Amino acid sequence: MNAAIPLLEVENLSVTFPTDAGAARAIENISFSLHAGETLGIVGESGSGKSMTAMAIMGILPKNAIVTGSIRLRGRELVGLSDDDLREIRGNDVAIVFQDALTALNPVVTVGDQLIEAVRVHRPETTREQRRARAIELLGLVGIPAPEKRIERYPHEFSGGMRQRVMIAMSIANEPDLLIADEPTTALDVTVQAQVLEVLREVQQRTGTTVVVITHDLGVVAGIADRVVVMYAGGVVEAADVDPLFYETAHPYTAGLLASLPRLDRRSSRDERLYQIPGQPPVATRWPEGCRFAPRCAYAVAGRCDVVVPPPVNVGGTHTASCVRVGEWKEELQ
Ligand SMILES: Nc1ncnc2c1ncn2[C@@H]1O[C@H](COP(=O)(O)OP(=O)(O)O)[C@@H](O)[C@H]1O
Ligand code: SF4
Ligand SMILES: [Mg+2]
Repeated sequence: MNAAIPLLEVENLSVTFPTDAGAARAIENISFSLHAGETLGIVGESGSGKSMTAMAIMGILPKNAIVTGSIRLRGRELVGLSDDDLREIRGNDVAIVFQDALTALNPVVTVGDQLIEAVRVHRPETTREQRRARAIELLGLVGIPAPEKRIERYPHEFSGGMRQRVMIAMSIANEPDLLIADEPTTALDVTVQAQVLEVLREVQQRTGTTVVVITHDLGVVAGIADRVVVMYAGGVVEAADVDPLFYETAHPYTAGLLASLPRLDRRSSRDERLYQIPGQPPVATRWPEGCRFAPRCAYAVAGRCDVVVPPPVNVGGTHTASCVRVGEWKEELQ
């Protein structure tokens, strides 16, 4: 394997759906790349195109989606591959964990049998005993206590957090090179969220799998990602390593997401409301002209911000921000 080639390269990827209200440009011209062993966070409000990006990489977009651009896994182009080829890649190279583990697991089959089946598909040469041992090992790896007993249980006998651990175990059964977790903790309460993130981190460290964590919560990526891509209205607005993203924020939208985070270092009184970015994200059939964040941006300037979609500007190293006022908006910080 050539170490210089990123594991995943997404280049000018667009996904469009024909709808009664016109073309929905769910994602448009997004580019990012990821090296083997890294963890990438993709962050943005609901509707920004995060799941479409994940589904495009997995090759599981709805049939009516029109895909252009390029997705390369270890240099191999995935856009345009046949269903059979994509199924094979899903079986061997990439895996996804969804938000809702209950709907992704089969309710009438024990967790053990589901894991054993996943191992069988990936390693058909193994005996049933070996598969069972591997299933127990996988449950142990994701921190399920007494896995040799739990293996006989059904999904509904597990709590939400434990089910999400089972899902992670299922997803790594085929030893994927790339694991995508789409809002893996969104349905869970805060304590359990932290535990599931810790499991993902441990799995990443022990297996060396490359991970993409998708979330609407910038706080989630802070503890887990090496690199972050911020999406808004179908586009990438900022991309940076995790520390520069938090400490040298270059895009007003990222700054808004940051300001909306609960702060542990500030004692909150009951009257103190968390900041919210004003307004709502636009819809994919009617993106605003120019910068799509302009209608909600405190720094928008008519005649500059509403002309073209701002191209990414390099603000140092591998840090980019798509804002025409990238060097100047902080001067007006309110
Ligand atoms: N089947 C579909 N047909 C048309 N538009 C869709 C379809 N699925 C999603 N969209 C649109 O694509 C955009 C991105 O959606 P999605 O990737 O699910 O966002 P996120 O995961 O960031 O919340 C949204 O504006 C959504 O309305
Ligand atoms: S381009 Fe203009 S509207 Fe868009 S984020 Fe920058 S300042 Fe705000
Ligand atoms: Mg989503």
